[in-house]
Parts: sequence; C-alpha cells; structure tokens
Amino acid sequence: MNKVLELKKVSRTYSLNGEPLNIFKDIDLTIKKKERVALVGPSGGGKTSLLHVAGLLEAPSSGDVLVKENLIDWSSDRVLSNHRLKDIGFIFQFNNLLSDFSALENTALPYIISGNSRKIALEKAELLLSQVGLEHRTHSFPNQLSGGEQQRVAIARSLINNPSIILADEPTGNLDFESSINVINIFNNLVDEYKCSIILATHDSNIAKMQDRTISIEGLSS
Ligand SMILES: Nc1ncnc2c1ncn2[C@@H]1O[C@H](COP(=O)(O)OP(=O)(O)OP(=O)(O)O)[C@@H](O)[C@H]1O
Ligand SMILES: [Mg+2]
Repeated sequence: MNKVLELKKVSRTYSLNGEPLNIFKDIDLTIKKKERVALVGPSGGGKTSLLHVAGLLEAPSSGDVLVKENLIDWSSDRVLSNHRLKDIGFIFQFNNLLSDFSALENTALPYIISGNSRKIALEKAELLLSQVGLEHRTHSFPNQLSGGEQQRVAIARSLINNPSIILADEPTGNLDFESSINVINIFNNLVDEYKCSIILATHDSNIAKMQDRTISIEGLSS
C-alpha cells in the first residue's frame, strides 16, 4: 500500500458572524509511504485546520479523506478513534504532554490505550525515549523538562503505535534555532527508521528544506 493519506476536493468553511468563511477549498493531496512533506503558508492560512481534517480531529465541510486507502466515514466515532490511535500520530505546538504523567508514562499511554500490556508499553517507551536522547529523563514530569525535551517526548509518543503518518503542527515553533534543527534531525531520522510519513507545518524555511518536498496551502487551494 503506497498511499497513506489522501485528501480529495477537501474544503473547510467556518461561520463568522453568520457569514461563511472559506479557509481552503477543493484541496487534493496524496501522501505516499515514507514521504516527508513540509506544509507552509501564511499565519491564518489554514495549516492547523488542514492538519485537523487530515488527522480526523475535525470533519471537512466537503470532500473525502482516505487513510491507508480506506474512505473515512465521519459518522462512526469508533472508526475515527481507531484510525487516530493506530494509524495517525499527532504532535501539537504546545501542551503536548499530560502534566500529571512522567515522560515514560506520557510516551507509553497510547500503546496502553490500544490494549497492550503496561509492561511492554513501558519497555517500548523506554526504547523510544532513548532514541530521542532522553534516557536520563524518563521519570521527569513535563514541567521538569525544557521545551525541546518536551517536544522530543512528544515525538517518542507519536511513534509508539507505529503510525503510518505523523502530523506535526509547528513542532518547534517555540524553540530557538539550534534546538529546532536538533529536534527535527531526531524526528527525521526516527520517521525514516520507523518507515513513517509526515506532514510538518512550519513557518521556518530551514526546517521546510529538510523535508522531501514542500507544499504551500495557498498553492493547494483553488
Ligand atoms: N473554530 C473556528 N471558527 C471560526 N474561524 C476559525 C476557527 N478556527 C480557525 N478559524 C480561522 O481559520 C483560519 C485558519 O486558521 P488556522 O489556525 O488553520 O491557520 P494557520 O495557518 O494554522 O495559522 P498559524 O500559522 O498562525 O498557526 C484563521 O483565519 C482562523 O481565524
Ligand atoms: Mg496553526
């Protein structure tokens, strides 16, 4: 299976003061296996909205989304949550982690929720945390970690269920230049190793250039 995600004529319209507001219209996008795609565009251009539709967090106003060539039925919560858990990883810009859980527990949680044993989940989480260079911080809580360390935990967590695709929304938006490049290098190496695709929304042209191709939300919308 070569296509991990497809958007077909996807549009998103919000209502503002009773008036329809078109954020994007008739977007067609295909992400292939192992492809790393940067998503760029102006602030307010619709990058987050597009990632929310692609990540099955929000239904499009019209159009179809296919995950691993399965057409998404937006009326079935069970189907949506199953895809979100097993096929799609999400990394947010802020507030990625649950504050009452350690780095190890945050990373392990999606695997436990998927019905796996806690013991195996913690072992997998430990391996992933060492792969992002945090073997010495596994028992730290989010407020004891730096911004870059927190984002590395979010990367580890996004990979624990071996998703086909990770949607990363400005994952380095609040980090300095050097930490950003460091986090993206770790991210890129790991998604290659785990044979995962990514869409990474970014304002930073240096980070966009580190992906296989760049798409602009303005160029996608008709
Ligand atoms: N729930 C909503 N209701 C109405 N308008 C919304 C809603 N959510 C987002 N918008 C509007 O949709 C547009 C796109 O927002 P979005 O967050 O997707 O942009 P973005 O490209 O991610 O911007 P940034 O680069 O600043 O993160 C904005 O004009 C925003 O105000
Ligand atoms: Mg955004």
